[in-house]
Amino acid sequence: MATPHNAAEEKDIAPIVLMAGDPLRVKMIAKKYLKKAKLVSKVRNIYTYTGYYNHKRVTVMAHGMGNPSMGIYSYELFHTYHVETIIRVGTIGSLRENVHVRDVIVAKDCYTTTNYSHIYEQYGPTFLRAGDKVLQLAEKVQNTIKSPIHWGSIYSSDTFYSDQDDTKLAKEKNLLGVEMECAALYYNAQQCGKQALTICTVSDSLVTNENLSAIDRQNSFLDMIEFALKIIEQL
Ligand code: HPA
Repeated sequence: MATPHNAAEEKDIAPIVLMAGDPLRVKMIAKKYLKKAKLVSKVRNIYTYTGYYNHKRVTVMAHGMGNPSMGIYSYELFHTYHVETIIRVGTIGSLRENVHVRDVIVAKDCYTTTNYSHIYEQYGPTFLRAGDKVLQLAEKVQNTIKSPIHWGSIYSSDTFYSDQDDTKLAKEKNLLGVEMECAALYYNAQQCGKQALTICTVSDSLVTNENLSAIDRQNSFLDMIEFALKIIEQL
């Protein structure tokens, strides 16, 4: 059954979904890594492909920007399409001096103040955890990635531009970086007992103000996608 935001039929979506914010990045992942990739939805240009990575059936789908957008797509994947596992690959801003651009962060959990949690009648700041099973598999295949990996907590914010000093919050709560989609994903997974994981490449630093060139961004992104696909192969 299709939803207002996804034209795919239930059988067209695999039980494992790899998500990225940018639809064109999703298209690139499908073309570069999947065999027999079929475009199953493109509502609002949220490209969604299903195919095979080695012998594992997988769907690759865009999630747009921010927790509300991630909230819609991941909710429908878990509830309407009965997806079991979602891995998000994205970019993140570093909040720590020892976390450099090009490094990878695996979000064991995220701290959030998002309003998205109100749909579950949970109010106020909270920490949300990644799925244990998918996190363990990530630890198992971590040597497939060349970049330094940081395992820990991230900040999942609702705002890119803000007057708040996120580096101060990072010290208080022991947070590695800031992104904008992990909370809705972990909330939705937690509420229906499904698996979710967020893996991010550090694209910029709020501490040193360094950022990645377009070519570096692309290369470190590929490294992370290959890591995510190795996890998916084990699922
Ligand atoms: N803030 C929020 N989200 C981000 C950032 C940032 O600095 N960098 C990449 N995603």
